[in-house]
Amino acid sequence: MPVLLFHGFPFTSESWWPLLESPPKGVRVIAPDHRGFGRSERVTAGSTSTMDQLAEDGFAVLEHLKIDRAIVGGLSMGGYVAIAATRLDPGRVSGLLLVDTMSLADDEAGKARRASVAADVEANGVVGLASGLMQKLFGAGAPADVRSRIEKMMLAQDRNAVAAASRGMALRSDGKDILSRYSGPCAVVVGAEDVITPLERAKTMHELVSGSSLHVVQGAGHLTPLEKPAEFSAIVERFARSPSL
Ligand code: MLT
Repeated sequence: MPVLLFHGFPFTSESWWPLLESPPKGVRVIAPDHRGFGRSERVTAGSTSTMDQLAEDGFAVLEHLKIDRAIVGGLSMGGYVAIAATRLDPGRVSGLLLVDTMSLADDEAGKARRASVAADVEANGVVGLASGLMQKLFGAGAPADVRSRIEKMMLAQDRNAVAAASRGMALRSDGKDILSRYSGPCAVVVGAEDVITPLERAKTMHELVSGSSLHVVQGAGHLTPLEKPAEFSAIVERFARSPSL
């Protein structure tokens, strides 16, 4: 079963490393880098990467691989992209996997923060954003090697890509209508210690999608797939095998 996974902000596809190194049984993990991130093509200075564009990029990867339908999932910003993909082309989404994310759009204050993050990153690089995120990303027990690998990954990202994605997130619409219309299988996963997209946000999505399952992973913060890789892999494996569980 192919599973297309969109990464969070400001990471790369490498942030799925436990799944990529050891894919769950029966699962083909497809994890592209968003435009400008990792090994994807650079974006131009001052551009905006909308969630719709990132979703279309993911569909282009599926087309390239000659895959008609896949489970589509994402972590945090990747979840915004997965929700956008569900709106753009629900026929290609055989299941929806929403990980440490939310359906809400930004309010006015949130949009202003995105603009100031973009301006800061363009002027000074990713350092300030990364150091703020390092305070919030992890649960208390997150291993030191996971923390340092993620920090290094953030610091290596191109400032134009990060600014473009920050502006793009500000433009996303509320996913409420998309999720309440969606009738396919859906699993919602959240770290019990996630302070960026906390449990109540996960519950909202779970309530919007009828028949969805909610998985609260103890001991994980915002990066459940890295903080509790065995638990996360088991959820993906079960969902891919029997998406209605
Ligand atoms: C992420 O992890 O992708 C970001 O925290 C999402 C966001 O800033 O809304």
